[in-house]
Amino acid sequence: YYNVREVIMMEFILTESEFNEDNTAWNGNRFLMGNGYFGIRGTLEEYTKKQMCAVNMAGIYDKMGNSWRESVNAPNPLYTYIKVNGKIYALPDEKPKFHQQELDFRYGIHSRVTHWQTEHGNITVVCERFASIARQHNIAMKYTFSVDFDCEAEIITGIDGDVWDINGPHFVKMKIGSKDGADYVTGMTGEKNISVTVKEYIRTDFQAEQTNQNTDKSIFRHIKFSAKAEKEYIIEKIAEITTSVDDFGTSGSIDELNYSDLVAEHKVEWDKIWDISEIHIDGDDEAEYSLNYSIYHLNCIAPRNMKGKSIPARGLSGQVYKGAVFWDTEMFMIDYYIHTAPEVAKTLLQYRIDTLSGAKIKAKEYGLDGAYYAWESQEGGYEGCSDYNVTDVFTNRPMRTYFRDKQYHVSAAIVYGLMKYINASGDYDILNNGAMEMVIECAKFYRSLLIRKADSSLYEIHDVVGPDEYHERVNNNAYTNRMAKFVFDTVLELSDKYPLDNKLKEMLQDSSKNILIKKPNENGVIEQFDGYFKLEDVSVETVRSRLINPKEYWGGAYGVASNTQVIKQADIVAMLSMFKNDYTKDIMETNLKYYEPRTEHGSSLSACMYSLLACYTNNPEIAYPMFMKSAKTDLTKGGKEWLGLIYIGGTHPASAGGAWIAAVKGFAGINEEHGQLVCRPNLPEKWNGMNFKLIYKGKWYSVEIKDDKGTISMI
Ligand code: BGC
Repeated sequence: YYNVREVIMMEFILTESEFNEDNTAWNGNRFLMGNGYFGIRGTLEEYTKKQMCAVNMAGIYDKMGNSWRESVNAPNPLYTYIKVNGKIYALPDEKPKFHQQELDFRYGIHSRVTHWQTEHGNITVVCERFASIARQHNIAMKYTFSVDFDCEAEIITGIDGDVWDINGPHFVKMKIGSKDGADYVTGMTGEKNISVTVKEYIRTDFQAEQTNQNTDKSIFRHIKFSAKAEKEYIIEKIAEITTSVDDFGTSGSIDELNYSDLVAEHKVEWDKIWDISEIHIDGDDEAEYSLNYSIYHLNCIAPRNMKGKSIPARGLSGQVYKGAVFWDTEMFMIDYYIHTAPEVAKTLLQYRIDTLSGAKIKAKEYGLDGAYYAWESQEGGYEGCSDYNVTDVFTNRPMRTYFRDKQYHVSAAIVYGLMKYINASGDYDILNNGAMEMVIECAKFYRSLLIRKADSSLYEIHDVVGPDEYHERVNNNAYTNRMAKFVFDTVLELSDKYPLDNKLKEMLQDSSKNILIKKPNENGVIEQFDGYFKLEDVSVETVRSRLINPKEYWGGAYGVASNTQVIKQADIVAMLSMFKNDYTKDIMETNLKYYEPRTEHGSSLSACMYSLLACYTNNPEIAYPMFMKSAKTDLTKGGKEWLGLIYIGGTHPASAGGAWIAAVKGFAGINEEHGQLVCRPNLPEKWNGMNFKLIYKGKWYSVEIKDDKGTISMI
């Protein structure tokens, strides 16, 4: 147990070999486990809401009073701590002599070893646990206690119903009890009466006196025994989480399940997932490790077996960003699933099809036609974003933001995601099952945004927030206009197979033909929006130096970036990498060079787009650091954690997905040409080769790259 790993970065193992209380929030994210149905933060067993402990449920939301609606955290069945001769030994208060926390991310198994020294001798706690990916309702835990002196020991373990909430409490009624040897806690949400039940069955391999001590929210079992030196006392815990709105049932009653069988079947399932998703990079262990770690996160949060569910911007790491789904899913994450688990990609799109009515309601609310998807989408397409989505650090007052009303590009992102899926899967059937209607409604939405000045022949889109959120309410954001055209063109192309009403067809032809698409200026640079070039041209560092408070919001009416050319994230660069066939390499390179130094990369969605465009312009060395930044987002401490006074920490699945896109579409150069996959590698100097598998049109392919030669073969 005490063998500190010399090498921290071992294959598929993430280790922290000392106890550092300052890392509590970060560890909760980077040691995360999940199975798509829930995520379990990488906190320790003795932790409570103070240390941001959470079992975050996918797709279940609640609104408490007037506060923001957010996803729900379930009661925590892992809660456990110890007493030795009446004294509590628990982190963070009782400092350990040795502590190691580990995530085996090949198998999503979290473990910890803690060693406390007392005046009588040493105490050791070892615990291993996982969110079963084979039975998504279950969690299994094995807790081992030992001492090197005889003592009176007590293990207190149970279901902690006093959960961490940002805008809670969400359980207005709680019921606790025991039935057939299992303890349970049921919480009932206030808004929709959804019940979340956590049950657990505890098995000990030793004689002990057991009593229950409950509170009105939690159930705790006190297991008391006389511990002998050098003997291991093992507790096995099998937990089950269910809700009243589940898409799939449980399998096996928990008292019949045991840790070793569960871990075995869980590993078999993970092996299957890695068989298609693992990526080998020859010559760069750090890149290989970080990329597969990103892939691990994408696998943990994939809504497998679920109907019409999507992935929140912070995955299943908690309630940050209200547990809501953003354009992140269709623009940055879906590519990975399309090529490794197409059924998951389809589920993500089904979520959008199912929430079309919510998008139509939102369009109407703004006097627009068609479907305007929620910026922060919750169940049913409910818009979680408020008009005041940032808190001003100086006045502590909510600040008017325009994410909700003006980020028109979200509907187009969904159409873009859908078309990536259809082109790579060949599943045109989805169009008959609601997707065609969705695309048409999105086209009507963009049509209703078009305006034409009296003397102009061109359509414009005014008063917009593009991907770069620091510049609000601008006219003719190049990205948004180009995406609108893409949506018009998509409907027109599909109209060969799915006949359109003639009037609508003519309207869309007219929209596509006449929408203003920004062209490069005499220097080859495309202006991000009308008037952008007239803004103050200063460096990111100068803008940063003007901050009065480090948590200050850079955008909005008075933000330090608002009247400068400094942008938050990829905007023109995103457009160029998405429509690479429309532009020459020169134009792409010129714009990359222009916009990169002006980009704060204040969003984790940014670096991957620059990396991709750098690959498309044959600059793998420029692409490399930006790829690494994306792949290491959740491995790196101190990412951006504040939006004004709002905490925005958590995992970053869009960045993980973006790293996958940069690796596979960028460096490996996987591209679809004339209905076929081609591979034109563009590896960084350091990489000797890559190999991985992909699914394309229902078939599995293996890709082998050696230096600058790539081969794709069907498996
Ligand atoms: C970014 C958005 C993104 C959101 C959620 C924001 O900081 O600017 O583009 O969708 O975070 O990840």
